[in-house]
This record gives sequence, structure tokens and C-alpha cells, in this order.
Amino acid sequence: MKLEGLCSQTEAWLFYYGWSRVYDRMQPFFTSNEMREAGLDLANLNGPLKILDVGAGTGTLSLQVAKRCGAERLTLLDQSAQMLNQAKAKLPLAPCEFVLSDAQTLPFDDDSFDRVVSSGSFYYFPDPVAALREQLRVVRPGGCVLVMGSLQPKPLFIRFFAQMFNRFPTEEQYHAWFAEAGLTDVKAIHVSNPWNAKQYAIAICGVKAPGTANPPRNLPLPDTPTTRLHRLAKLPLVLARFGLALGAFFVIGPLQVATAAIGMHRLKAAQATS
Ligand SMILES: C[S@@+](CC[C@H](N)C(=O)[O-])C[C@H]1O[C@@H](n2cnc3c(N)ncnc32)[C@H](O)[C@@H]1O
Repeated sequence: MKLEGLCSQTEAWLFYYGWSRVYDRMQPFFTSNEMREAGLDLANLNGPLKILDVGAGTGTLSLQVAKRCGAERLTLLDQSAQMLNQAKAKLPLAPCEFVLSDAQTLPFDDDSFDRVVSSGSFYYFPDPVAALREQLRVVRPGGCVLVMGSLQPKPLFIRFFAQMFNRFPTEEQYHAWFAEAGLTDVKAIHVSNPWNAKQYAIAICGVKAPGTANPPRNLPLPDTPTTRLHRLAKLPLVLARFGLALGAFFVIGPLQVATAAIGMHRLKAAQATS
């Protein structure tokens, strides 16, 4: 069942309202610095670059970016104040700029950044091509857009619940979205956690070729009585989708934590005997 419950701004916001409380404690069971480093290498992220981290959350990726490129020219954008507040409290990120916004309507001028990066957030965005077009718009010509994200799980049982929870795209989908958004010289690699090479994600990077025409800026919908009424009418559907997504998460979340804990234990044992 492909419900893709959290590929919507409201549902993703609700989820991170709660999950933000334990995010930093749970995140190491899902992703690792090693896999993010591999992605950052792909985008050649070194030196004094101006960087935007989209869906930056509590700053996991940003901390690694800041180590490579400095924190002064780094901007963290997220729609969840609960997640972003935790990033703000991290000392190495103190010089950064923090922006509370939907990733689909980036509040920046054209050609503002050398790189736009994201990890673990892209598949929450309702319209992947529209989100990529916004990222292409704000990156300078010759700059690149890097996305790190999950791939469709192979075991059917896991895939069923994963796709009830969120969008888990195929590699082909990622490539098609990058091409449709107008990014060129697209390179992609598999990245995995050190404790489980079999479970991998994608790091995909595309360049804004010099001479690329900027797409028109995507502006937020105005907050009028009509748009508010529209949102209210959709609320029962939103809550139903959110409930199903949460149910799916309670199946795949503990499975992931258990798999990771076993993998970490095995890796430690192997390291101890070598
Ligand atoms: C799994 S967390 C990833 C955080 C961080 N990048 C990391 O690697 O740990 C996903 C983040 O995407 C954010 N997000 C989801 N949908 C969003 C949207 N439409 N606009 C901005 N941020 C969004 C969530 O609030 C959350 O902080």
C-alpha cells in the first residue's frame, strides 16, 4: 500500500513535533556520520563555501558541513521549530543562520548559495521536482545540489510499511526528478552505515550548468480565510493519513533499531578480535 503518509507538510510537521524530543538519541540507529561524509565528498564540500542545508532538523548534517566549510556561511532551514531549536543550541552551529520555512518555498534570492545539501529530508517534500527546482534556483551557476536519502527497501514486508509511512523512491525516480528539475552532470553513489553494508541509501548530486535559466520563485500560499477553510476541510484526511503513517512507523522503527543494534554489536566484536 503506497500511502506515503508523511509526504505532506502538515503530517511531517506533526511527526517532528513529537519525534524531535528523541531525535538526537534515536538518529544514530538510522544513519551515521560515515554515510554523510561519503555524500559530502561527492559534492566536493570543502573550503569556504556558502551552503544551505534544507530540512536541517537538529543539525546532524550541518555539524559535519561546518567542520569542512565553517559555520559562518552556513544556513539551516527547516519547517519544524522544535527540530531547529535543538540545532540552535549546539555551540559549533552558533554562527549559522537559522530559517524557519517550508522547503518548497525557499525565502532566498536566485543564485544565493554555492551548494544546497540535504540528508534524510527530501522524501518528505510533497512535490520532489518542485522542491528541486527551488534548490536549483537558489544555487549559483556551477554550484551543485546534493540529496542524501533512503531508497525503496527490497523486502516486501518492510517496503509495504515503509511506503505507508513515507516516500521511499527508487534510484530511477531520483535520477528522473533531478533531470526534470534541470540539474546536469548528475552523479550518484550508494552510502551505508558501517554496521550494515547491505542496507544502503543514495547520495545524488547535480550541477546547475552555467547559463541555466532560473525557474520562477515558488511563493507560499497567502493566508486568507479561503485557504484557512480549505485547510480545515482537509483536516480529517490529514489526521487519518497521519495515524496510518504513525502505525507503520511503529512497525518499521523498532525493526530498524533492532537491526542496527545487532549490526553495531557484531562490528564491535569483529573490531575487538582483529
Ligand atoms: C529525518 S529529519 C533530517 C534532519 C537532518 N537533515 C539530519 O540529517 O538528521 C527530516 C527533517 O525534514 C524536515 N522537513 C520535513 N518536511 C519539510 C518541509 N516541507 N520543509 C522544511 N523542512 C521539512 C523535518 O522537520 C525534519 O527536521
